[in-house]
Amino acid sequence: MSVFAYPFMRIAIIGAGKIGFTILSALNKMSNVELIATGRSNSTLEKIKSIGVEATTDNNYAVSSSDYIILSVKPQHFPSVLKSVKSWEGKKVVSVMAGIRISTLSSLLKGSKVYRAMPNINAIIGKSTTALAEERDETVEKIFLQIGKVYWVPEELMDAWTALIGSGPAFIAEIIDALSLGAVECGMPRDLSYNAILDMIEGTVELLRKCKHPALLRDQVTTPAGTTIRGLMTMESEGIKSALIKTIEAAYKRSAEIGEQIDRKLRS
Ligand SMILES: NC(=O)c1ccc[n+]([C@@H]2O[C@H](COP(=O)([O-])OP(=O)(O)OC[C@H]3O[C@@H](n4cnc5c(N)ncnc54)[C@H](OP(=O)(O)O)[C@@H]3O)[C@@H](O)[C@H]2O)c1
Repeated sequence: MSVFAYPFMRIAIIGAGKIGFTILSALNKMSNVELIATGRSNSTLEKIKSIGVEATTDNNYAVSSSDYIILSVKPQHFPSVLKSVKSWEGKKVVSVMAGIRISTLSSLLKGSKVYRAMPNINAIIGKSTTALAEERDETVEKIFLQIGKVYWVPEELMDAWTALIGSGPAFIAEIIDALSLGAVECGMPRDLSYNAILDMIEGTVELLRKCKHPALLRDQVTTPAGTTIRGLMTMESEGIKSALIKTIEAAYKRSAEIGEQIDRKLRS
């Protein structure tokens, strides 16, 4: 009988790299959970052991002895994981690998129930915004709640999610850098402008959560003939909004393209 029948479960992380280890560390704080994680190098195994978790290079043992499996290797290393595991029968498998479709995974991991998760880098501080696809599962949700917020989405939204939420932190960092440099140009010290803008963004996000649409907040700040409208006019004439829309669209297309390439390779 599966250990999951008891108020206890065993979770295997296959590939405790950047994202796998982040998930592992968060799960390690949960009670009623036993963990095992895999890697190839000594340094990965030592890192796993350093937080008191069972470490192995043996993917087959990790999978066969666990109820839930989190697949967090790079897509190009997935074939080697496939070769190393004898059976996926009865396992619940959550793939965080970008691009590989549930249908492809299900056909390769025979007998398993497959889910996809797309977390982001903010998982490091427990603030990931993670998409889960596709059928709801309470335990899968509980696992990813340990690293932040969770949204269940249809799988067809995963590429848009990867663009907006996966790559999003990099886009936001770039925008913040530009705004901060703008203040430097106006004579403000870099550190002061950086810290001030981060605080301003925190406040703005809190306020935006109370607004139905960002334009409502914008209009409240926009005094006739004032400073904000002058800035907004510049944003408009420089095509900032259009550039940002295209940024997400380009990242979305690239995500879909990568997904198709990986899928084609795995199916061939
Ligand atoms: N990083 C993110 O923020 C993020 C966010 C969302 C999704 N993802 C997805 O998560 C996956 C992993 O990304 P990552 O950035 O965490 O990569 P990573 O740091 O390179 O981690 C991958 C891990 O897989 C291990 N590995 C490779 N082949 C293995 C095998 N055959 N058996 C066992 N372990 C194996 C590697 O072990 P060694 O170190 O010992 O070689 C490494 O620790 C990717 O598919 C990516 O698309 C990442």
